[in-house]
Amino acid sequence: MQNNSRQITSNQAGPHPRLSETVRKHCTTSLRSPISEHTAAAFDQATSWLQARADRPLMLDSGCGTGMSTGLLAARYADANIIGIDRSIHRLQKTTAVDNSLAEIADNACLLQAELVDFWRLALAAGWQLQRHTILYPNPYPKSAHMQRRWHGHGVFPTLLKLGGEIELRSNWRLYLEEFSTAVSEYNMIETGGQRNRELGSNDAIASGSPIELIPAEEPISLFEKKYRDSGQPLYRLVIQR
Ligand SMILES: C[S@@+](CC[C@H](N)C(=O)[O-])C[C@H]1O[C@@H](n2cnc3c(N)ncnc32)[C@H](O)[C@@H]1O
Repeated sequence: MQNNSRQITSNQAGPHPRLSETVRKHCTTSLRSPISEHTAAAFDQATSWLQARADRPLMLDSGCGTGMSTGLLAARYADANIIGIDRSIHRLQKTTAVDNSLAEIADNACLLQAELVDFWRLALAAGWQLQRHTILYPNPYPKSAHMQRRWHGHGVFPTLLKLGGEIELRSNWRLYLEEFSTAVSEYNMIETGGQRNRELGSNDAIASGSPIELIPAEEPISLFEKKYRDSGQPLYRLVIQR
């Protein structure tokens, strides 16, 4: 992998002006796109894998790429079961022979090829509740016109939050994390009826995640983290406690 990756450039100077409106819309409508067959099959495999294990806390490493982070998290949280999910068979196959099926990479971790938008909906419908959820270096979609492709601008955002747990996002684009944090506040406000208060003129937004932190120079947790670190980019972290 090259180590001269460029910093993100965007035609957005600050948070997207339609972010709050978009989150509100997604909180009041449900996503109707059909669940892909391969993700439904992957979800069944994940369910069987979990049923065969001790009843431990559950973690997802969503968009895990090659699964480097999934392996490291499995070692760090040995008391949890961890599932790394990515849609790219090409990336997953750098770590394992996963072939549209589940591949175990440690006693307590596996990798799975699946579409997250579908997998998260299936997981929520099945009653899954997470202890932790990592989303490391999500595709930024920096063009303003593509805001709805970012996780916080996507119709699946309420599902992602309802899966619960401590959500950790990392990015080389600070604005992505700022928007995510704002979107969580907007979601919280709607869920607790704050939208009505705001319409009435009250200003009682609920605090969301931790402040956005600069990640100190430490051993990279994922391949993209290593790539960005090696090219000297500042890297950021946001932790949301749900
Ligand atoms: C920039 S890479 C980061 C990979 C890894 N987390 C890392 O830090 O090295 C983003 C990853 O998210 C995956 N991804 C993006 N959208 C996805 C989706 N809707 N479903 C599943 N995986 C997705 C991509 O395939 C890609 O591997």
